[in-house]
Amino acid sequence: MARRTWQAGISAMVTALGVVAITLTNAPEAAAASPLRDLAAAKGVYFGTAATVGELNDSAYKALGAREADMMTPGNEMKWDTTEPNRGQFNFGPGDAVVAAATAANQRVRGHTLVWHSQTPNWVQNLPATELRQAMVDHITTEVNHYEGKLYAWDVVNEAFSEDGTRRQSFWQQKLGDGYIAEAFRAARAADPAVKLYYNDYNTDGVGAKSDAVYNMVKSFLQQGVPIDGVGLQAHLIVGQVPGSMRQNIQRFVDLGVEVAITELDIRMPTPATAAKLATQASDYKAAADACLAVAGCVGITTWGLSDKYSWIPSVFPGEGAALPFDDALQAKPAYDALNRAYGGTGSTPTSTTTPTTPTTPTGGAKSCTASYAIVSQWQGGFQGEVKVTAGGSAVTAWTVTWTFPNGQSVSSVWNASVVTSGSGVTAKNLNYNGRLDPGAGTAFGFLGSWNSANGIPSVACTAS
Ligand code: XIL
Repeated sequence: MARRTWQAGISAMVTALGVVAITLTNAPEAAAASPLRDLAAAKGVYFGTAATVGELNDSAYKALGAREADMMTPGNEMKWDTTEPNRGQFNFGPGDAVVAAATAANQRVRGHTLVWHSQTPNWVQNLPATELRQAMVDHITTEVNHYEGKLYAWDVVNEAFSEDGTRRQSFWQQKLGDGYIAEAFRAARAADPAVKLYYNDYNTDGVGAKSDAVYNMVKSFLQQGVPIDGVGLQAHLIVGQVPGSMRQNIQRFVDLGVEVAITELDIRMPTPATAAKLATQASDYKAAADACLAVAGCVGITTWGLSDKYSWIPSVFPGEGAALPFDDALQAKPAYDALNRAYGGTGSTPTSTTTPTTPTTPTGGAKSCTASYAIVSQWQGGFQGEVKVTAGGSAVTAWTVTWTFPNGQSVSSVWNASVVTSGSGVTAKNLNYNGRLDPGAGTAFGFLGSWNSANGIPSVACTAS
């Protein structure tokens, strides 16, 4: 009964005051999370992600990337096994496709990667030393020329050091000796004088033997006039183990005179994920972001994908995963909320409801909630919606919002709620971190949707327990 009355009330309100409802989403206490790319831009840095051409066929995932990231790294498409599968036979189609998608989303691109021991064809690995040197220079020259003017940076050499700071005994190192890295950078500079040239590696995020070795190499390059502009810290991290010296490490590279970027951030955990692990992961993401944001000269952060749906982790580290800020269903995790706040955003829930100053006791009255639906932005065929949920006079521990789209619209990806659809019907439930609301307190969830002929505002209903 009460629900029917309330529903009728909201329906009347949105019919008469639809525009007002949209304006209300701009009020600070009800704001949807600003996309990370906007928050990063306001701080003079970028927020990037990596994607493969295949992943970009997933339109919901593509839209999520376009919303959150203003820098893109092709996951595999610029690696040697794709770009020069046979000697002198170049294949830039897949890489070009990622660049085109990035350009359409108004994103810049990091080129990844020219010289690596992995994902490099056998024909390269089997060459004798003299030919290998020439093949390396030819490959760099042709690929860098092809992308000249289209990229922000190149990871020129990837993962050339071992954990103890000695050179990795790759076929490059064994056949060409120490000089191959400097040669690769010189060839890249000759092919494109403007693109930033990076050395990129993992387990170099904090101060240690491996990052010391990279530091010494960069220092000697700068002394000798070998062209290098940046150091990429991959940051494939483990929950609970973000190096405490990350900021100090970033700072020492910047002090040398190069820029730094976090290039492949993910923070893995033993699966399945639990609320406790997700909470630790959230503070880990914040710690990594803070380390970069604290140092002028740390130009941006790229996550190695956005959603656990496409993460490389489970295939390479069996039993581990859940490493990215969005889950398998493209729903924002606590890590996303923490990242958003680290960049100065409101997070996806109002601060006042996630950090209550005094614990409140439920009044014992009937549990209820109200919800309001608003279109945050709309474009041809698509829109971003936001639903604000407010608890009634009693504290609630879970909420469910339902509506039926009036014009056949559909929901493609959702953050801060879990959604099930059936035809035009939508049922959205809280996630484990935003179900609990104090009396009168609010939270919000958002989604991307598509529409055709019209995008009318549906009536929404909210139930609480
Ligand atoms: C990974 C890709 O994500 C996978 O699809 C591929 O199978 C293996 O490579 N360090 C790097 C990236 O520099 O290129 C790697 O990408 C992840 C580790």
